[in-house]
Amino acid sequence: MVRALVGPGYENVLRPLLFRARGGDPERVHEDMIRALEVLARTPGFRSLAGLLTRSASQPVEVAGIRFPGRVGLAAGMDKDGRAALAWQHLGFAFAELGTVTAQAQPGNDKPRIFRAPASQALVNRMGFNNHGAHALANRLAVAGVYRGNGRAGIPLGISLGKTKVVEVEDAVADYLTSFDAVHPHADYIAVNVSSPNTPGLRSLQDGGALADLLGALTARARQFNPTNPVPILVKVAPDLTVEQVDEVLAAATDTGVSGIIATNTTLSREGLAAPDRHLAEEAGGLSGRPLSARAREVVAYVAAHTDLPVIGSGGVMTTEDAKRLVDSGASLVQLYTGFIYAGPALIAAINEEVG
Ligand SMILES: Cc1cc2nc3c(=O)[nH]c(=O)nc-3n(C[C@H](O)[C@H](O)[C@H](O)COP(=O)(O)O)c2cc1C
Repeated sequence: MVRALVGPGYENVLRPLLFRARGGDPERVHEDMIRALEVLARTPGFRSLAGLLTRSASQPVEVAGIRFPGRVGLAAGMDKDGRAALAWQHLGFAFAELGTVTAQAQPGNDKPRIFRAPASQALVNRMGFNNHGAHALANRLAVAGVYRGNGRAGIPLGISLGKTKVVEVEDAVADYLTSFDAVHPHADYIAVNVSSPNTPGLRSLQDGGALADLLGALTARARQFNPTNPVPILVKVAPDLTVEQVDEVLAAATDTGVSGIIATNTTLSREGLAAPDRHLAEEAGGLSGRPLSARAREVVAYVAAHTDLPVIGSGGVMTTEDAKRLVDSGASLVQLYTGFIYAGPALIAAINEEVG
């Protein structure tokens, strides 16, 4: 009963308030939300209150050797510094991908750097990996008692790694390894982000040779730390790759013993922006949400058909139907970011109920 009101309550009441709050600045609203979740997760009673509003995942699936309580997770970028790491379980997510963090703390791009496109149910962002660095994330998770496999966050936590902006692409491997060394004790899986459009040169790491070097170094390091049960490493790809480029990624992933593919990150395309949002086509950055749904599905289907590796689908999951279609296209799990902004926790509850 209470739960039935959550969806309309969010969309008709809370979302309009949130979209107007803080002078309409999405980044400040986002910071407020993360801060609130961080506090709430430590507040007795939050869990029971959240339990009334959300529906936890209850149909476990095993992917990459990890047991997930359900299929829908939080995509990377929402909780870059892991501040709300203990809260996501209470909103119904079956897993959360923290980060992207980089080896060195960095401020990200100049503001404003995130734009809402409400008529298109989309966002454009060029955050540029603003984060406090991999060591700060590791310390925060250590203080919270979060270690790989111990279930402290209630759900599996992935940690997404990216390249520090000031580090040259040629030196990227060492930079990722520094981050890996810092965070791996706290991660149920590691996501290698080579697909954000907002760090110059980053996407060139998706090219076969460079990617094989990077993934080879990371999987070797994971085996070095734990020869019998290395932390699974997944690679996240852009939706803007050609078929040949996807083939190169899959070959590099298979050759280096990667455990799965996350498809996809945001797109450079501006197709699907509705007329009232067309001005955002001029803003640099990645587009997410509804305009990405069809392309994400296409990439997921291609990847699933051309490899045995499990696929985590990400991109344009705005409704339960979108989640179902991504699963039908071959995704073992799905993640969302923009759908959570537009539909709130009710979407997670609905996916848990209808998709499992
Ligand atoms: C504001 C914002 C920041 C993001 N930051 C990251 C990031 O740090 N690392 C990453 O891998 N993806 C990042 N993403 C991409 C999302 O994780 C996701 O792959 C993408 O938005 C597509 O899913 P969606 O349509 O559900 O939002 C970001 C997306 C948004 C909107």
